[in-house]
Amino acid sequence: MTLLEVDGIDVAYGDVQVVWDVSFSVTEGETVALLGANGAGKTTVLKTICGPLTPSAGDISFNGESIGHLQQDEVVPKGVTHIPEGREIFSDSTVRENLRLGAYTNRDGMRERLDRVYEIFPRLEERKGQKAGTLSGGEQQMLAIGRGLMSDPDLILLDEASLGLAPVLVEDVFDAIERINEEGTTVLLVEQDVNNALRIADRGYVLESGRMNLSGSAEELATDDRVAASYLGG
Ligand SMILES: Nc1ncnc2c1ncn2[C@@H]1O[C@H](COP(=O)(O)OP(=O)(O)O)[C@@H](O)[C@H]1O
Ligand SMILES: [Mg+2]
Repeated sequence: MTLLEVDGIDVAYGDVQVVWDVSFSVTEGETVALLGANGAGKTTVLKTICGPLTPSAGDISFNGESIGHLQQDEVVPKGVTHIPEGREIFSDSTVRENLRLGAYTNRDGMRERLDRVYEIFPRLEERKGQKAGTLSGGEQQMLAIGRGLMSDPDLILLDEASLGLAPVLVEDVFDAIERINEEGTTVLLVEQDVNNALRIADRGYVLESGRMNLSGSAEELATDDRVAASYLGG
């Protein structure tokens, strides 16, 4: 079943249009990668799905319901969670407090969800009383993902989860995303780390200068010269 359908969206910042007629879909249970060079419009597309931006043309539907014009606080309860680039955790709050804040729209079963997050990220349980600002970069990324899971989403939107992390942590983060998907959450991820993204994705789409340029299975894209070219700005 199609969970997310992005249908011909245009998106602008004020008068400056940066996304043109972008369409793609994500089926329930999939991991889909949205790829593209810096400035291609990936973050803009994610922000249009999850609320802060609104398409000037086209629409977005989730579970068959139009969400293109809803705000973030209306989208989260429908089952969409966004893990923004740069993590945006609350530095002065503890790990546990950050996680509890993630459940703000849905406090039923919070204990079970907290246990699940700690099972996926044992480091977070070890540091649950620690101020989030004192965590390492990798731990902060785990916390951001864990906080997103606390709303019990059907779809998780991940923006550059691996950015700035040491290679061994990148692997940990991708393994965790893979596991979250295997346990039933659909994943749409935006990544500069194409190889790792295509390692865990089922399918991918490539944005170039705000337009959808290419799509295919992870295997097809991993071996497509045009994918490499779009990363060299070609
Ligand atoms: N807040 C903003 N105001 C104006 N332009 C923006 C803003 N955010 C991003 N842009 C522009 O939109 C384009 C797409 O950016 P973005 O979606 O962040 O790309 P990506 O995530 O693929 O690197 C870029 O040209 C960028 O400069
Ligand atoms: Mg971005």
